[in-house]
This record gives sequence, C-alpha cells and structure tokens, in this order.
Amino acid sequence: MIRLHDLQFVPFIAEDSITVAIEELSVVLNQDLKNKNPLFIGVLNGAFMFTSEILKRFKYDCEVSFVKLSSYQGTQTTHQVRELIGLDVEVSDRTVVVLEDIIDTGNTIEVLSRIIKEKGCKELKIATLFFKSAAYTKQINIDYFGIEIPDRFIVGYGLDYDGLGRNLTEVYQLKSNSMTNLVLFGPPGAGKGTQAEVLKQKYDLIHISTGDVFRYNIKNATALGTLAKSYIDKGQLVPDKVTIDMLNAEVDKNPDAKGFIFDGFPRTEAQADSLAELLVSKGSEVSAMVALEVDDEVLVQRLLERGKTSGRPDDADEGVIRNRIKVYYDETAILKNYYQKQDKYFGVDGVGGIEEITERLSQVIDKL
Ligand code: IMP
Ligand code: MG
Repeated sequence: MIRLHDLQFVPFIAEDSITVAIEELSVVLNQDLKNKNPLFIGVLNGAFMFTSEILKRFKYDCEVSFVKLSSYQGTQTTHQVRELIGLDVEVSDRTVVVLEDIIDTGNTIEVLSRIIKEKGCKELKIATLFFKSAAYTKQINIDYFGIEIPDRFIVGYGLDYDGLGRNLTEVYQLKSNSMTNLVLFGPPGAGKGTQAEVLKQKYDLIHISTGDVFRYNIKNATALGTLAKSYIDKGQLVPDKVTIDMLNAEVDKNPDAKGFIFDGFPRTEAQADSLAELLVSKGSEVSAMVALEVDDEVLVQRLLERGKTSGRPDDADEGVIRNRIKVYYDETAILKNYYQKQDKYFGVDGVGGIEEITERLSQVIDKL
C-alpha cells in the first residue's frame, strides 16, 4: 500500500503486465503503420511514459509531438476539457496516432479528435494504454488499447493523483474502502475458533473458514464443490485455483462486508499471492496476519484435557497432538515470513482468559 497526499492506493497492475500489453500493442502498430510515417501525438502529462515506450518499439519512420489538455481535478472529472496547448506540427494529409495514457469518459479524446480532424489529417487513430470501457460514453472508435480496466481511479505509469504518482512503474488503484481483512492463525488448541467467533461479532466481519467452505460446496454439490471432490476422491490435493474460486464466491456473497477473517487459508506462498490478488480485485488487501501464540506444553495439556470429553481421537494421543503442532509450525513459518516482509505479521499471546486474549487481539486490529 502507498499513500499519495490524503489517499491510500493498493497495487493493481504489475509492471510486467503493462510491458506485455505495450509489446502486444507495438506489434499491431508496427503492422498497421509501417510505411505511413505516422505522427504520434502524446497527450501530456499522463502519456509521456507510454509515448516513450511505444516510440522505442516502433521500427519504421515516424515523428512525435505532444499536446496538453486537461479535464481532471483531483479524482473527479470536471467534464470540461480545457484548452489544447501545442500541436505545432503540420497534420494535413498525415496519419496521426494519438497516444493517451487513459481514456475514461472520453471527453478529452472527443475534443482532441475534433481539433485534429479540423486540421485536415488524412487518417486519425486513437491508442490508449488504459481504457475504462464501462465509463466511456462517446461514439469515437478506440482503435488500440493496452489494458481494459474497471471504472476505478488509478495512478502510476504516468498517471497522477494531484501531481503525485506519475513516476511509479506499476499501477495502483485507490483503496476503495477501509476493509479489515485478517488472516487468522493459531496452533491446534490455541482457541482460534473461539476468538474468530468473538472478533466476527465485535468488528462485524465475515468469518471464512476454508474447511467450512469446502464442506458447504461439496454437500450442496456446487460446480466447484463437485470439482473439488473429484480431486479429493482421487486422493489428490485440490488445486489452489479451485480453492480460491470458492473463496472468491464467498467474498462476492458479501459485497458490503466490512472485512473478512480468513481461517485455514492461505497455507502456502502461492496461496497468499492468490489471496492478495483476490482482494486487490475488490480494491482491498490483507490487513494483517494475526497468530495466536501458545507454548507447546500448554497446548498439549489443553488438548489432552479436551480429549477426555470431546471424544476426538486426535485429541487423545500425545504423539498425534505433538505432530499436529509441528505441522502447524512448519506451515506457518513460511507465511509468517511472507507477511513479516510486508510488516503485516502480528503474534498475539494466546494464554489467558477469552476476554483477555480478545483484548490483546483488539489492540492489534484497532491500529490497522
Ligand atoms: P476522460 O476525458 O474522461 O476520458 O479522461 C481523460 C483524462 O482524465 C486522462 O487523460 C487523465 O488525465 C484523466 N484520468 C482519467 N482517469 C484517470 C485515473 O484513473 N487516474 C488518473 N487520471 C485519470
Ligand atoms: Mg491525460
């Protein structure tokens, strides 16, 4: 997450993906425009980076010029395109290619197209790196675009928020709300289930237990549940893609949620990456990994005690218990490291009364 002026932004499109889109676009531009000596017109300020990347990849004769227009203040369009500055080049009888960083409502491109056409160009093409197709209200055909994006405010790769962010080499989107998304961990017997229940009430969060989600989907024979079961029946691991699709469906069921508690997921770095992607697509992110910490000996005693009444066979045998605890630490170590690198790991002392532990967890959550 980054902050520009008063707003927070979360990573949205990686530099690699932008480069791939530009490469693909360049192949088409080279094909369509070779031998036409096109005049590329970059729209300042936003399109300076995109213009440079396109020019570097164009292999035939071409020229470049810049114009400047403005229609935005802050994160809102003013619907009024201000005066065009520049266009000091002769465009009559030329193939002109406008290079835009982003096309949103289309106000800017409409005005710009009109001005250029009035000057008598032979052919006018429009190329934009980012295209908010859902926000676009105009008739003018957008000949080329790099990446179609939803109607969200973005910064980076030339685009700014009140002057800042143009130098970022990847694209960030405005953090849509202040969701609290927790990844909850705790060794067997640490009281994770109890605390998840309390936190869910206290912070009005949705508790997504991966185990429950699996059981629900399989029991109700949803498409994903049936798919998951086909792997389980063969004794294979359910692919991450299937699990993340199920979680995505759960998240989508709660579009107005204040946040989620993820329980039992992620278990690997790849899964943590997928979860990050899922939340980014909702304009959010993982706020914290919170892990209850309880000494092994205390856990063993607690579980043996529980085993006397619960009847769970895995609670009765000390060897089995110790192994479950070991498996937990083996798995958790990777994720602890993953979230620590992002300053998102919080270990919380899990020994004490239920309320006392909730209080400790709250101290972490309230600061997020
Ligand atoms: P339009 O006139 O609504 O199509 O908007 C075009 C101009 O608005 C772009 O050239 C940008 O300067 C600006 N703009 C639109 N969307 C964004 C955004 O998400 N981030 C930053 N600038 C934007
Ligand atoms: Mg612009």
